[in-house]
Amino acid sequence: MLKGLKKRHVYVRTFGCQMNVHDSEQMIALLGENGYAQTEDPRRADVILLNTCSIREKADQKAFSQLGRYASFKRGKPGLILGVTGCVSQQMGPRIFDRIPEVDLVVGTHNIDQLPVLIGRLEEKKGRIAETAFRDCVASIGVRARPKKGSVGAFVTIMQGCDNYCAYCVVPYVRGRERSRGLDDIVGEIRFLAESGVKEVTLLGQNVNSYGRTIGNGASFPALIRAVAAVDGIKRIRFTTSHPKDLSDGLIGCFGTVEKLCAHIHLPVQAGSDPVLERMNRGYTATDYREKVRRLRETRPDIAVTSDMIVGFPGETEEDFRKTLELMEAVKFDGLFSFRYSEREETAAVSLPGKVEEGVKRERLHRLQKLQDAHTAERNRRLRGKRVEVLVEGLSRNSRQDMTGRTSCNRIVNFPGGNSLVGRTVTVGIRETYLHSLRGELEGEG
Ligand code: 5AD
Ligand code: SF4
Repeated sequence: MLKGLKKRHVYVRTFGCQMNVHDSEQMIALLGENGYAQTEDPRRADVILLNTCSIREKADQKAFSQLGRYASFKRGKPGLILGVTGCVSQQMGPRIFDRIPEVDLVVGTHNIDQLPVLIGRLEEKKGRIAETAFRDCVASIGVRARPKKGSVGAFVTIMQGCDNYCAYCVVPYVRGRERSRGLDDIVGEIRFLAESGVKEVTLLGQNVNSYGRTIGNGASFPALIRAVAAVDGIKRIRFTTSHPKDLSDGLIGCFGTVEKLCAHIHLPVQAGSDPVLERMNRGYTATDYREKVRRLRETRPDIAVTSDMIVGFPGETEEDFRKTLELMEAVKFDGLFSFRYSEREETAAVSLPGKVEEGVKRERLHRLQKLQDAHTAERNRRLRGKRVEVLVEGLSRNSRQDMTGRTSCNRIVNFPGGNSLVGRTVTVGIRETYLHSLRGELEGEG
């Protein structure tokens, strides 16, 4: 049990992906039930948690430099509990104590639900705890986050872990084997979210289209999407991330039949050269990928396709890299996250020959991003003069007169309007298009 009477505060700092953002929301909800209020000021906190990411070296380094800063707070506040959660904790376990001795608590990716008990133990008796055991049950992913007041969108975890073992990727080692959460449990959470005013849900998992594989009984991702679409009050469904090799006909079909499913798919391709894709252990060729995109666009012509790309994977030649640019020209992604290959402990790619120099990686990334900017601008320009449906999320960051929201195809749209529109779907006529957003005029409400 946590010390009750005086309100205590927790500060959570998140690094990395949407999955981590949502894990932090879950931790805040759990600790909230146990007497901890969230604070945005780390100096006010009784507990500081760093929710870390280890997907690339840069993310990992950022977490450690922050941790060093928070460790210094302990000098003036010896009772402060400093905890590390997420993928770096999972990977390093108690070795984190050697690197930053001020850390009191290390919690793994399968142990989030144990946080209140672990913090309670540290409050009773000072010491150090590292809890990073992988568990078969899905208790840690079933924790319900509480939507912030007035939130239009919410994340819902539907599965954790990954069995794909892409050669560059640390995820199977830090999130464990793939495990799906029960359909009724997920739908129950989404009903609760809808009753709290949420209009849009994003279903989260490392590889959502293999949802249900660990459950059996006919559970599948298309069946889950249809069950979520039947929840009253939910207007839009999104999901992330999908693996191209598991993108089934059933799921492609959902884009044509489930109206609430948004016209956007994030479908990471990683490279455009077949030998590189093979060494990455991706399980498809560039032609397979292009065929899947063709079918998606045939089913839903307005669909936005975004992707992830890695440059400088071991053995990538200039010729391989040109194949990546060629694939980009052929597909014309609506948006792309691109990264320099970063070697990760434990992964298969560590032992591959042909390491690419950092300077070469940097130069390739630059060329790739320049090309993508041109494609993003071109894809956005196609929306100029069109009327689009926007789910209004709130006030725009840039101007107090403007509201902001997203199209079904996940573009940010700013337009003059009032606060009463939040949570409503409106029609906006697009006047200007930029690289990261669109601007328009309100043309209809309802
Ligand atoms: N180096 C660079 N990028 C990586 N990603 C995953 N692992 C690595 C790595 N070792 C990228 C992939 C993935 C995204 C989440 O991060 O593109 O889709
Ligand atoms: Fe990593 Fe590949 Fe799994 Fe994605 S599918 S999480 S890239 S191992």
